[in-house]
Amino acid sequence: MSNIKPETFNFKSVKGISTKQLDEHYKLYIGYVNALNKIWNTPYIPGNYTDSNPTYSAMRSLKLGETYSLNGVKLHELYFQNMTGGNNAPQGPLLNAIKNQFSSYDNFISYLTNVGLSMRGWAILSIDSMDNKLHIIGSDLHDTGAVWISCPILVMDVYEHAYFMDFGTDRRKYISTFIQNINWDILNNRFKKYISSMQSMNIKPYRYCPLGYFQ
Ligand SMILES: [Fe+2]
Repeated sequence: MSNIKPETFNFKSVKGISTKQLDEHYKLYIGYVNALNKIWNTPYIPGNYTDSNPTYSAMRSLKLGETYSLNGVKLHELYFQNMTGGNNAPQGPLLNAIKNQFSSYDNFISYLTNVGLSMRGWAILSIDSMDNKLHIIGSDLHDTGAVWISCPILVMDVYEHAYFMDFGTDRRKYISTFIQNINWDILNNRFKKYISSMQSMNIKPYRYCPLGYFQ
Protein backbone atom coordinates (compact mmCIF):
# COMPACT_ATOMS: atom_id res chain seq x y z
CA MET A 1 0.00 0.00 0.00
CA SER A 2 1.56 3.26 -1.12
CA ASN A 3 0.92 6.12 1.26
CA ILE A 4 3.44 8.80 0.33
CA LYS A 5 2.84 11.82 2.57
CA PRO A 6 3.40 15.35 1.26
CA GLU A 7 6.17 17.30 2.91
CA THR A 8 5.64 20.76 4.34
CA PHE A 9 7.85 23.76 3.66
CA ASN A 10 8.51 27.07 5.36
CA PHE A 11 7.12 29.40 2.70
CA LYS A 12 7.14 32.30 5.16
CA SER A 13 10.94 32.45 4.76
CA VAL A 14 10.68 33.17 1.02
CA LYS A 15 11.22 36.79 0.02
CA GLY A 16 9.81 38.34 -3.16
CA ILE A 17 7.38 35.52 -4.04
CA SER A 18 3.87 35.81 -2.62
CA THR A 19 2.28 33.29 -0.29
CA LYS A 20 -0.60 33.03 -2.78
CA GLN A 21 1.81 32.04 -5.58
CA LEU A 22 3.58 29.51 -3.37
CA ASP A 23 0.36 28.06 -1.95
CA GLU A 24 -1.08 27.54 -5.43
CA HIS A 25 2.16 25.89 -6.51
CA TYR A 26 2.05 23.66 -3.45
CA LYS A 27 -1.43 22.47 -4.48
CA LEU A 28 0.06 21.14 -7.72
CA TYR A 29 2.66 19.24 -5.70
CA ILE A 30 -0.11 17.70 -3.56
CA GLY A 31 -1.78 16.63 -6.80
CA TYR A 32 1.37 14.78 -7.88
CA VAL A 33 1.59 13.04 -4.50
CA ASN A 34 -2.05 11.94 -4.74
CA ALA A 35 -1.62 10.75 -8.33
CA LEU A 36 1.50 8.78 -7.40
CA ASN A 37 -0.26 7.03 -4.52
CA LYS A 38 -3.18 6.22 -6.79
CA ILE A 39 -0.91 4.76 -9.47
CA TRP A 40 1.24 2.79 -7.04
CA ASN A 41 -1.89 1.38 -5.43
CA THR A 42 -3.17 0.14 -8.77
CA PRO A 43 -2.78 -3.64 -8.80
CA TYR A 44 -1.55 -5.28 -11.95
CA ILE A 45 -4.45 -7.30 -13.30
CA PRO A 46 -3.61 -8.83 -16.69
CA GLY A 47 -7.21 -8.67 -17.86
CA ASN A 48 -7.11 -4.85 -17.61
CA TYR A 49 -4.26 -4.63 -20.09
CA THR A 50 -5.24 -6.68 -23.10
CA ASP A 51 -4.63 -3.96 -25.70
CA SER A 52 -1.24 -2.55 -24.68
CA ASN A 53 0.25 -0.44 -27.45
CA PRO A 54 2.36 2.75 -27.67
CA THR A 55 -0.39 4.94 -29.17
CA TYR A 56 -3.22 4.70 -26.64
CA SER A 57 -3.71 2.05 -24.03
CA ALA A 58 -4.37 1.64 -20.32
CA MET A 59 -0.79 0.54 -19.65
CA ARG A 60 0.62 3.51 -21.58
CA SER A 61 -1.52 5.92 -19.55
CA LEU A 62 -0.45 4.26 -16.32
CA LYS A 63 3.26 4.38 -17.12
CA LEU A 64 3.22 7.97 -18.42
CA GLY A 65 1.32 9.05 -15.33
CA GLU A 66 3.78 7.22 -13.11
CA THR A 67 6.95 8.87 -14.41
CA TYR A 68 5.29 12.28 -14.58
CA SER A 69 3.93 12.20 -11.03
CA LEU A 70 6.97 10.48 -9.52
CA ASN A 71 9.40 13.02 -10.94
CA GLY A 72 6.90 15.76 -10.15
CA VAL A 73 6.94 14.81 -6.47
CA LYS A 74 10.72 14.48 -6.24
CA LEU A 75 11.55 17.66 -8.15
CA HIS A 76 9.03 19.81 -6.29
CA GLU A 77 10.29 18.57 -2.92
CA LEU A 78 13.89 19.35 -3.89
CA TYR A 79 12.80 22.74 -5.28
CA PHE A 80 10.72 23.81 -2.27
CA GLN A 81 13.46 22.63 0.10
CA ASN A 82 16.21 24.56 -1.64
CA MET A 83 14.26 27.82 -1.79
CA THR A 84 13.07 27.95 1.82
CA GLY A 85 14.67 28.39 5.23
CA GLY A 86 16.99 31.30 4.59
CA ASN A 87 20.79 30.72 4.66
CA ASN A 88 21.00 32.63 1.39
CA ALA A 89 24.68 33.64 1.34
CA PRO A 90 26.61 31.60 -1.26
CA GLN A 91 29.18 29.60 0.70
CA GLY A 92 30.75 26.26 1.47
CA PRO A 93 32.38 23.48 -0.54
CA LEU A 94 29.73 23.67 -3.24
CA LEU A 95 30.55 27.31 -3.92
CA ASN A 96 34.21 26.35 -4.28
CA ALA A 97 33.31 23.56 -6.69
CA ILE A 98 31.11 25.94 -8.69
CA LYS A 99 33.91 28.48 -8.94
CA ASN A 100 36.33 25.80 -10.06
CA GLN A 101 34.04 24.39 -12.66
CA PHE A 102 32.20 27.43 -14.00
CA SER A 103 35.09 29.95 -13.75
CA SER A 104 33.21 32.17 -11.29
CA TYR A 105 30.02 32.37 -9.28
CA ASP A 106 28.70 35.09 -11.59
CA ASN A 107 29.38 32.93 -14.62
CA PHE A 108 27.48 30.06 -13.01
CA ILE A 109 24.51 32.29 -12.24
CA SER A 110 24.53 33.55 -15.82
CA TYR A 111 24.58 29.98 -17.14
CA LEU A 112 21.82 28.85 -14.75
CA THR A 113 19.71 31.86 -15.69
CA ASN A 114 20.03 31.18 -19.39
CA VAL A 115 19.15 27.51 -18.94
CA GLY A 116 16.13 28.61 -16.90
CA LEU A 117 15.09 31.03 -19.62
CA SER A 118 15.49 28.36 -22.31
CA MET A 119 13.59 25.44 -20.82
CA ARG A 120 9.86 24.93 -20.18
CA GLY A 121 10.10 22.94 -16.97
CA TRP A 122 13.27 22.75 -14.96
CA ALA A 123 16.87 23.88 -14.63
CA ILE A 124 18.83 21.53 -12.37
CA LEU A 125 22.39 21.69 -11.11
CA SER A 126 23.33 18.06 -10.78
CA ILE A 127 26.42 15.94 -10.17
CA ASP A 128 26.52 13.26 -12.80
CA SER A 129 27.94 9.83 -12.17
CA MET A 130 29.59 9.85 -15.59
CA ASP A 131 32.34 12.21 -14.46
CA ASN A 132 31.46 13.29 -10.89
CA LYS A 133 31.22 16.87 -12.11
CA LEU A 134 28.53 19.49 -11.88
CA HIS A 135 26.23 19.94 -14.86
CA ILE A 136 23.25 22.21 -15.42
CA ILE A 137 20.53 20.02 -16.87
CA GLY A 138 17.57 21.51 -18.73
CA SER A 139 14.20 19.78 -18.83
CA ASP A 140 10.90 20.64 -20.52
CA LEU A 141 8.68 18.37 -18.44
CA HIS A 142 9.01 16.44 -15.18
CA ASP A 143 9.80 13.28 -17.10
CA THR A 144 11.38 14.71 -20.23
CA GLY A 145 15.11 15.31 -20.16
CA ALA A 146 15.50 13.53 -16.86
CA VAL A 147 18.92 11.95 -16.36
CA TRP A 148 19.39 8.66 -14.54
CA ILE A 149 21.96 8.16 -11.79
CA SER A 150 22.57 11.86 -11.48
CA CYS A 151 22.31 13.66 -8.14
CA PRO A 152 20.34 16.94 -8.11
CA ILE A 153 21.97 19.64 -5.99
CA LEU A 154 19.93 22.71 -6.96
CA VAL A 155 16.47 22.46 -8.52
CA MET A 156 14.73 25.44 -10.11
CA ASP A 157 11.17 25.22 -11.39
CA VAL A 158 10.64 27.37 -14.48
CA TYR A 159 7.18 26.17 -15.41
CA GLU A 160 4.91 29.20 -15.81
CA HIS A 161 2.85 27.95 -12.89
CA ALA A 162 5.86 28.67 -10.65
CA TYR A 163 5.87 32.42 -11.23
CA PHE A 164 3.08 33.70 -13.48
CA MET A 165 0.81 35.00 -10.69
CA ASP A 166 3.57 37.24 -9.34
CA PHE A 167 5.78 37.97 -12.33
CA GLY A 168 3.58 37.58 -15.40
CA THR A 169 5.83 36.93 -18.37
CA ASP A 170 8.93 38.30 -16.63
CA ARG A 171 10.64 34.98 -16.07
CA ARG A 172 14.05 36.60 -15.72
CA LYS A 173 12.85 38.54 -12.68
CA TYR A 174 11.40 35.36 -11.16
CA ILE A 175 14.71 33.54 -11.69
CA SER A 176 16.62 36.39 -10.08
CA THR A 177 14.22 36.32 -7.11
CA PHE A 178 14.50 32.55 -6.83
CA ILE A 179 18.31 32.77 -6.82
CA GLN A 180 18.17 35.22 -3.92
CA ASN A 181 16.17 32.64 -1.95
CA ILE A 182 18.52 29.69 -2.50
CA ASN A 183 19.30 27.94 0.77
CA TRP A 184 23.03 27.20 0.57
CA ASP A 185 23.01 25.02 3.66
CA ILE A 186 20.64 22.64 1.87
CA LEU A 187 22.79 22.69 -1.26
CA ASN A 188 26.00 22.02 0.64
CA ASN A 189 24.39 19.18 2.57
CA ARG A 190 23.32 17.53 -0.68
CA PHE A 191 26.77 18.07 -2.15
CA LYS A 192 28.58 16.68 0.90
CA LYS A 193 26.27 13.65 1.09
CA TYR A 194 27.05 12.79 -2.52
CA ILE A 195 30.80 13.14 -1.99
CA SER A 196 30.80 11.11 1.24
CA SER A 197 28.66 8.34 -0.22
CA MET A 198 30.97 8.10 -3.22
CA GLN A 199 34.02 7.94 -0.96
CA SER A 200 32.54 5.45 1.50
CA MET A 201 31.62 3.08 -1.30
CA ASN A 202 34.92 3.70 -3.10
CA ILE A 203 33.04 3.93 -6.35
CA LYS A 204 34.58 5.45 -9.43
CA PRO A 205 32.71 7.88 -11.68
CA TYR A 206 30.27 6.29 -14.12
CA ARG A 207 30.13 3.16 -12.01
CA TYR A 208 28.15 4.89 -9.30
CA CYS A 209 24.86 3.34 -8.49
CA PRO A 210 23.42 3.01 -4.99
CA LEU A 211 22.19 -0.47 -5.75
CA GLY A 212 25.42 -1.61 -7.33
CA TYR A 213 23.92 -2.63 -10.63
CA PHE A 214 27.14 -1.78 -12.44
CA GLN A 215 29.53 -3.43 -10.00
FE1 LIG B 1 6.07 23.31 -10.33
